Amino acid sequence: AAIEKNGFDHFMLKEIFEQPQTIFDSLRGRLDGGQQTITLSGVDKIADKLMAANRIIIVACGTSWHAGLLAEYVIEELCRINVEVEYASEFRYRNPIITDKDVIIAISQSGETADTLVAIETAKKQGATIFGLVNVVGSSIARLSDAGAYTHAGPEIGVASTKAFTAQLAVLYLIALKVAKVKNTITDDLYSVLVTDLVKVPEHVQQILETQDQNIREIAAKYTDARDFLYLGRGYNFPIALEGALKLKEISYIHAEGYPAAEMKHGPIALVDEHLPVVFVATKDSYHEKIVSNIQEIKARKGKVVAVVSEGDNTVTSLTDDVMVVPLVHEIIAPILSVVPLQLLSYYIGVNRGLDVDKPRNLAKSVTVE
Ligand code: G6P
Repeated sequence: AAIEKNGFDHFMLKEIFEQPQTIFDSLRGRLDGGQQTITLSGVDKIADKLMAANRIIIVACGTSWHAGLLAEYVIEELCRINVEVEYASEFRYRNPIITDKDVIIAISQSGETADTLVAIETAKKQGATIFGLVNVVGSSIARLSDAGAYTHAGPEIGVASTKAFTAQLAVLYLIALKVAKVKNTITDDLYSVLVTDLVKVPEHVQQILETQDQNIREIAAKYTDARDFLYLGRGYNFPIALEGALKLKEISYIHAEGYPAAEMKHGPIALVDEHLPVVFVATKDSYHEKIVSNIQEIKARKGKVVAVVSEGDNTVTSLTDDVMVVPLVHEIIAPILSVVPLQLLSYYIGVNRGLDVDKPRNLAKSVTVE
């Protein structure tokens, strides 16, 4: 076969370890760290529409939808444009209000997901401008879009998406930063901090893979027999909690739920006992003490806590049973790092359970029928 596992046991593990390169590829030729400039011809092509947009509607499914949810947080914060994130399957059937002032961003690894394709066809007929963020070159969604950007992650074979997701985030960051710069809704200081952090993402991911892989194998061994998992995060880390839970469900068949950390008080906290592992995405951010108190609430009920923490965070480390450490970066960039340990955790738990992680039962790489 032309595509091989390159010495890795599974495509999924190979693709997780490819991320320093694939993220680099998704930024290459687009982000100039020295000049601090961003070049995205697809954004230029619809610049008038984007600058005048009433709102941006993001449509996607699965992991791509999680990238969209994070993009909502980032674009609203940096660009001050109203963003809606829609499951393509819901959007296409509910007669949504769309005008020619709306810009749709369709996110899809395959570019062939039937619901996403029909959703943008519907929106296009009503005059919206379609921007495709797609991995597979020349795919149906790419062809139907008015403009777009490829993620350049290369072929993704593992059914559970990993490198395509981080490439989506990398390009969504570029789009947000570029629009914010043109609209003048970002300070020079913040722009510069975020560009600098973004340039370093490939080397930071490399550092996570090198320093955390063995640690995460050991953590996975402790929790392989769990029946349920809860994943919690706040703010920019909330979409990563959802993605961590989805990854675990997909390849280990363990029931997992992702939730906004504070919202757990309205339900999931009832599940907490000494048997429930709770994974916190708890990197340093502007309201870090809030998630620390959520961790204390779980510990008080004897839940087991595993946390993704920023390097040097002794507070969370001392409170939790296990930590997975990521470099300290700006809170807006942190999610693209935080997801990597969660990919590895799911992978090792799936492997420990003896499952075919590259081809989980009942799932398809690309859902081209309804
Ligand atoms: C399937 C895949 C997922 C993927 C989703 C959306 O469910 O198993 O990994 O996130 O489809 O696919 P797309 O190609 O549109 O990103």
